[in-house]
Amino acid sequence: VAPLRVGIAGLGTVGVEVVRLIERQGRVLTERTGRPVKVVAVTARSKAKKRGIDLSGITWAKDALALASDPEVDCLVELMGGAGDPALSAIDTALKAGKSVVTANKALIAKHGLKLAKAAEKHGGALNFEAAVCAAIPVIKTLREGLAGTGISRVYGILNGTCNYILTRMEQEGLSFDECLKDAQRLGYAEADPSFDIHGHDTAQKLAILASLAFGTQVAEKSIYVEGISSIAPEDLKAAAELGYRVKLLGVAVRTAKGIEQRVHPTMVPKSSSIAQVMGVTNAVTIDGEGIPPITLVGPGAGGAATASAVVADIADVARGIRAAPFGRPVDKLRATEKAPMERHEGG
Ligand code: NDP
Ligand code: HSE
Repeated sequence: VAPLRVGIAGLGTVGVEVVRLIERQGRVLTERTGRPVKVVAVTARSKAKKRGIDLSGITWAKDALALASDPEVDCLVELMGGAGDPALSAIDTALKAGKSVVTANKALIAKHGLKLAKAAEKHGGALNFEAAVCAAIPVIKTLREGLAGTGISRVYGILNGTCNYILTRMEQEGLSFDECLKDAQRLGYAEADPSFDIHGHDTAQKLAILASLAFGTQVAEKSIYVEGISSIAPEDLKAAAELGYRVKLLGVAVRTAKGIEQRVHPTMVPKSSSIAQVMGVTNAVTIDGEGIPPITLVGPGAGGAATASAVVADIADVARGIRAAPFGRPVDKLRATEKAPMERHEGG
């Protein structure tokens, strides 16, 4: 059987772990998908950088666009980040050539996901982005496939590992915001520009993607109210704790009679609630489906290995020949997102 030939653009925190995981799980992937998965080409900014992985026998493409156009590559894996080029043109080029694309890039999917999904639908490739939301937690698949027959009324949770890590360590150890952020960066949790994390935009991008899948509406990051955690200090968390609360950065999307209400902001949650128990880099997403009790998914929300797990699962789907509609239904069937007036709800 012909192998699935993978080209990886971006060999940072996530890219390196994807190369390692494909190497380590080679036999299992072949058994599960029916064909070998082989990394044939890679690229990054610096060819000289030491990355701790063996790239012998793997072609180094001159840039992401060259990788996307390489006829030896069947599936482009984009792990560079950034909502614009080179990620955008590389993905667009690969999809228009009928290839499949796997990406962890929520900034790009939140901004250009619909256009790219259209290209995927037209040219027959897959566009998979499970790793873009909550790293290892299979929340995209849960909404798109597992709950395909269920009406969804609300999706909410802790969608950013960096912020939850910072809030946890500030509360438990009394460390300063800056010390905690530095550690989150060192551990590979934060975005290349961590202001996306701490100002809430990373959570908003993920929420926009989840809301689209949950409600069958277009991705609309701009209609989200966003407030981050950068002005929170250990003293605030101490004061909240004295009142029996913990502070969590929540993303909440609710279907109302007036449209979709979407918001991201720090929220005081009772210490006894289950969401208050979600600590460190862990994320949690709760989905309220009609006629069934809420479903909560909890797991590692950031980091190289956790994210690689979802990226490789998406690659496995490509190897199996699965071509799910990226947003759960054809893009022209997605309704425009009507923004509902915002109401505050205690505890999310
Ligand atoms: P890193 O900053 O660690 O790595 C980025 C990689 O992309 C580097 O190898 C870099 O090259 C390469 N790169 C950057 N710009 C270019 C360019 N113009 N041309 C070619 N290569 C380029 O990022 P992460 O691995 O942390 O994140 C990658 C993606 O995954 C992002 O979209 C991020 O949002 C997403 N993600 C990250 C998670 C995490 O926990 N880290 C979790 C979920 C998603 P070089 O090494 O030479 O500098
Ligand atoms: N910076 C992101 C986070 C990476 O901390 O959640 C995972 O998407």
